[in-house]
Amino acid sequence: MIKSLRGRLFAGLTAIILLTGLIGGLFAHHWAFNEAIEMQDSVLIQIASLVQAGSLTGGRELHGVDEDAEVWLIDQAATPQASGDEARLWSVKDGLALATRKGQPIRVLLRTRPDGTRFAVAQRTSVRDEIASDMAFRTVLPIAALIPCLLLVTAIVVARSLRPMVRLADDLDGRRADDMTLLPAGQMPSELHPFIASINGLLQRVGLLMDQQRRFVADAAHELRTPITALSLQAENLDAVDLPANARGRVVALRQGIGRTRHLLDQLLALARQDAGQDDTRAMPVVKLDDVAKEVVADLLPEATGRGVDLGFARLEPALVRGEAVILAAVVRNLLDNALRFTPQGGRIDTCVYRDGDAALLQIEDSGPGVASAELGRIFDPFFRGQRPAGDGAGLGLSIVKRIVDRLEGTIEAVNLAEGGRSGLRVLVKLPGADA
Ligand SMILES: Nc1ncnc2c1ncn2[C@@H]1O[C@H](COP(=O)(O)OP(=O)(O)OP(=O)(O)O)[C@@H](O)[C@H]1O
Ligand SMILES: [Mg+2]
Repeated sequence: MIKSLRGRLFAGLTAIILLTGLIGGLFAHHWAFNEAIEMQDSVLIQIASLVQAGSLTGGRELHGVDEDAEVWLIDQAATPQASGDEARLWSVKDGLALATRKGQPIRVLLRTRPDGTRFAVAQRTSVRDEIASDMAFRTVLPIAALIPCLLLVTAIVVARSLRPMVRLADDLDGRRADDMTLLPAGQMPSELHPFIASINGLLQRVGLLMDQQRRFVADAAHELRTPITALSLQAENLDAVDLPANARGRVVALRQGIGRTRHLLDQLLALARQDAGQDDTRAMPVVKLDDVAKEVVADLLPEATGRGVDLGFARLEPALVRGEAVILAAVVRNLLDNALRFTPQGGRIDTCVYRDGDAALLQIEDSGPGVASAELGRIFDPFFRGQRPAGDGAGLGLSIVKRIVDRLEGTIEAVNLAEGGRSGLRVLVKLPGADA
């Protein structure tokens, strides 16, 4: 059973074409053959009429009536003492008949002249058949030649008719997972309309569900921020209170826990806000990526210096992109935050911003341990933190970055640095460059 619709259509149509061609060819051959035989009979009749009228006289065998067709004129007068086949020939009545001559089957037309003498116009059956087959074959030839052309046209028509379906599938396959844009039914064949309507219905429902979920996460994170802020204020107030030494240690742990929770809520909010943002990059303002990076690096410099990490730019060139300064800053901040977290004291973090052709590039290289190669493919997944997480991460930073980069129609890749015995992670973000 052929699974593909195209294959099935083509096989069915091919069978029909071949069958029609075969039946048509057989009938055409049969008719043409009979017609040719009849035509040759009428030639015999015409020759006989000419002979009878005296316009054609000949000897024992008349050639030249029709050289190729091997038509003979046999006069009974020329063979008075006939025997065998010849004698049997003259015993046949006037008219068309089948006979044998010199051991070969022939078609003869016998006639009697007014003076009583008889003659025969004869033709070898094998020659007649050959001529008839030839003519029949020439009738069938165009049909046979037409079949490959028909098959070719069928293949083209089938492929063309199914192309909208293939295009539809490609469109769906090539989509981002969260792209809920409805499929256009306009130029599609009407047979596909119910199908497209169903898919669009599904897309709408899934979109609605995703919106609800996003709003829920955003609301929950937002609602949780107020009590967490209150909690952290209370914990800070505890600093002023005279506490025994062991209780002070607990307060520090408590404040760290609250800090982690706040960070998680901030990341969740950032993610939810990112998902709810508008999708059309062309409507976004042009932002100087180099300026954004400079600001974030300046912000993080005190922390880096405090940790003994050399944070700076290895390359800083003007690079314009379409986006929002806040979300671009979130990209740079999350990447630098990771680099800082994983780079040991005395290490360095090199930031590069530059333009390469049509793309604006942001590259961050640290001198930390890098990411285990088995984990490299998963670090952009939400809540993934790997085997050796450092610090109080929520595991959301890179997934936020990835979503932002996707939305800005850019790409992001992370590779471990291995050259020259050094370790570390290099993250390269490529965004479509914009013009001023
Ligand atoms: N520069 C890096 N060096 C080594 N490992 C890294 C680096 N950046 C990311 N990773 C690995 O990828 C994981 C996911 O990073 P991601 O930024 O998404 O989460 P996080 O930093 O743990 O938490 P968050 O960013 O939400 O605070 C990290 O937990 C870590 O295992
Ligand atoms: Mg992070």
